[in-house]
Amino acid sequence: MRTLTWDQEKQELRMIDQRQLPARLEIISCRSYQDVAEAIQNMTIRGAPAIGVAAAFGVVLAACKSKKTNLQDLQEEIQQAATIIISSRPTAVNLSWAVQRIMKIARQPFVMKQDLINSLVTEAQKMANEDIDTNKRIAEHGAGLIQDGDTIIHHCNTGALATVDWGTALGVIRLAHLQGKHLHVLVDETRPRFQGSRLTAWELEQYGISYEIICDNAAGYFLHTRQAQKVFFGADRVAANGDVANKVGSYMLALAAHANNIPVYSVFPTSTVDLNLENGDLIPIEERDSNEVLDIKAHDQPVAPIGAKARNPAFDITPNYLITGLVTEKGLVSPPFQQNLSRVIHE
Ligand code: MRU
Repeated sequence: MRTLTWDQEKQELRMIDQRQLPARLEIISCRSYQDVAEAIQNMTIRGAPAIGVAAAFGVVLAACKSKKTNLQDLQEEIQQAATIIISSRPTAVNLSWAVQRIMKIARQPFVMKQDLINSLVTEAQKMANEDIDTNKRIAEHGAGLIQDGDTIIHHCNTGALATVDWGTALGVIRLAHLQGKHLHVLVDETRPRFQGSRLTAWELEQYGISYEIICDNAAGYFLHTRQAQKVFFGADRVAANGDVANKVGSYMLALAAHANNIPVYSVFPTSTVDLNLENGDLIPIEERDSNEVLDIKAHDQPVAPIGAKARNPAFDITPNYLITGLVTEKGLVSPPFQQNLSRVIHE
């Protein structure tokens, strides 16, 4: 089952509501570009590649649902929708990458409105299919990094749910498992939204991969006692020098791994690389609602005093020196990333 599918007949984008997992597998329908922007913002759908493809279908919806008959007016309206969709989350560059790609089609000269819509649908479907192919190629490049018997610490959710299907870092782990390697995954629960314990654990159950959930702050213990041999996580944006923005906590995990000489791999499609940014300090970090920290529905009691303030950066930057390798669909990129990453992108 794909994380998102386009229903051509009903002209709606259907997606798994990731806020409900693992309690319920619910599908919601987005019938307008505003629905898509909201679903990205409220994390009905999340994960850099998945929100990129969802955003592309958001542009499709803007065109399908527009009342404009004049093509120039229609193209202007689509452009406005694109700007709104891009602003729904700031860190993952896949979002603007995908919107820019589909907007190249939207700006082409068309004679009939329906031709424009058809071309947009074709492009968005192509992006969805490419995402799965790319992930499978990433997995082929990454699976060799995993040895039989490895225990891997994985942060956040980088699986099928974070993409259209298959996944990035978790896709590498899936392939290594299918190759017959015996693995164990220590799943960082990933505070504050628990993408690890809710989503990654849910996926690992289905793949039959052995796992245990750990508190994020237990990772150092498992690394120091050599109960884990590798660290794998994804990326939301990678700067030209190989600095990686990923789910908050990735940096602390990489620091602890580096201090214990344990390799750290960040796994992502090349659409996650932003060569316009020299280093990770230039990557915008989303700061989300502090209630995500303060209000945990699963607890009967609040976990903080009423009225307490909180900070909630949703991502952090792992500097390149903490990273052993970057795994992309074009292959494994090793340091020095400053030279090697842009070479791989331009190949
Ligand atoms: O806030 P989220 O859940 O969208 O954050 C997701 C991550 O940080 C993932 O690690 C990243 O998007 C890569 S997913 C293949």
